[in-house]
Amino acid sequence: MLKVINVVGARPNFMKVAPIVAAMKRRERQFTPLVVHTGQHYDSMLSNAFFRYLELPEPHVYLGVGSASHAAQTAAVMERFEPVVLKEQPGWVLVVGDVNSTLACALVCVKLGVKVAHVEAGLRSRDRTMPEEINRLLTDQIADLLFTPSRDADENLRAEGIPQERIRCVGNIMIDSLFKHLARATESTIREQLGVGAGPYAVLTLHRPSNVDERKTFERILEALEQIEQRIPVIFPVHPRTRKTIAEFGFGARIERAKGLRLIEPLGYLDFLSLYSGAHLVLTDSGGIQEETTVLGIPCLTLRENTERPITVEMGTNTIVGSEPEKITTAAFAALDGSRSSSHRVPPLWDGHTAERILDALT
Ligand code: UD1
Repeated sequence: MLKVINVVGARPNFMKVAPIVAAMKRRERQFTPLVVHTGQHYDSMLSNAFFRYLELPEPHVYLGVGSASHAAQTAAVMERFEPVVLKEQPGWVLVVGDVNSTLACALVCVKLGVKVAHVEAGLRSRDRTMPEEINRLLTDQIADLLFTPSRDADENLRAEGIPQERIRCVGNIMIDSLFKHLARATESTIREQLGVGAGPYAVLTLHRPSNVDERKTFERILEALEQIEQRIPVIFPVHPRTRKTIAEFGFGARIERAKGLRLIEPLGYLDFLSLYSGAHLVLTDSGGIQEETTVLGIPCLTLRENTERPITVEMGTNTIVGSEPEKITTAAFAALDGSRSSSHRVPPLWDGHTAERILDALT
């Protein structure tokens, strides 16, 4: 029996770990899965709600680290995770994605000589000002086994000198959750609640420090949104970081005047899936949403200068538009007019069976 600690910390981790834990439960003769939640995210709508909607079992251990500076948060996760690993003596620890908890837990394992695998390895934006890029680079250097979503990620790892035997291309784990819950998401009434059931609408998410903590950049994006919302309602579930800086920068009144830009609270997994899957256009600075829209064939404009997921541009529906207002609006109107190519492909192995491939590789 293989005991595996599955680490979750922040919102984008839950939909990656849920299918892995579910697959381990189906193979209970082979696996004993434990879930450790670092508590990096703690708000109900960023954390608890996801456990419920994704059918993820309650965490066996909750470390409760909360928000802090990067150093303090990373250190707190390490300090609190180490005794758990020492007590449980797992055969493997699985970390996912690129948040601070990912790196912190991988570092604890490598120093204890406990095997650690990184799911969603090999993604690179080549932008080292992005905290997640540092987490990706370092986690991949120290993890024993690297599960990549696509071949370009394998190439990134090989270029960094990582030997092929540590790399397994298994596909995109988030898409396991997407396929599993797509049908159930139709039960969500969020579109009716928001009054966008029938007509076209766009969905916006924004939370990267490089966008929302930088007044000038945030203002430029806002300028573009003020034009887009005149043509189509833009539904904007607001991340707590973004809510804070809207208040700090005094953007509230300006947003209020933009009647088509509708700020709402963050949504749970199923409601958000229901919302974006019905959208004519998605604008985002999230990584995962670039992938989800690619699979569903929804035009996605990425409000960043780069992406660690270039396959969503090459094969999918993603366009990198940065924060230049004119570039954003031109791309948005082109997508709404249907003047961009509608041909897109789903990358290989983004098929809903990634969790099984990960388990096979662990045994
Ligand atoms: C973190 C991840 C980022 C991920 C994002 C998804 C890192 C470096 N960043 O960024 O990769 O895309 O999560 O949401 O790991 N806050 C709350 N409630 C919470 C959590 C945070 O109100 O449950 C507030 C706090 O004031 C905090 C701020 O939001 O200071 C930012 O949270 P933090 O976890 O530092 O970073 P995120 O921007 O959420």
